[in-house]
Amino acid sequence: MTTVTPLFNISELADNSAKGLELNQRNLFAVSHKGQIYLYENRCPHKGVPLEWMPDTFLDIEKQFIQCSTHGALFTIDEGFCIAGPCSGARLTAVACEIINGQLCLVE
Ligand code: FES
Repeated sequence: MTTVTPLFNISELADNSAKGLELNQRNLFAVSHKGQIYLYENRCPHKGVPLEWMPDTFLDIEKQFIQCSTHGALFTIDEGFCIAGPCSGARLTAVACEIINGQLCLVE
């Protein structure tokens, strides 16, 4: 059976910005980029630590990549694929989501 959990209203997430979320002790973050919203586990594949250095700060300065604040690994926003840094070639864990009635929802 599919469980749908509303997370937030997508109007709260401007394009090229990110938002950290905690849900049942799961650390997640959402990124809005070029009209799409992506949801990932907030865990760097290098050391397993959270990615952000300040709340909701997950992107590099040009807002083109997700950046881990610990050792600077860069990940593509659309696939979570690491293109630079100590975990090159690894991926963030994507989390299934859908927009339903203006809400970003976790789908499990
Ligand atoms: S913990 Fe993220 S790059 Fe090392």
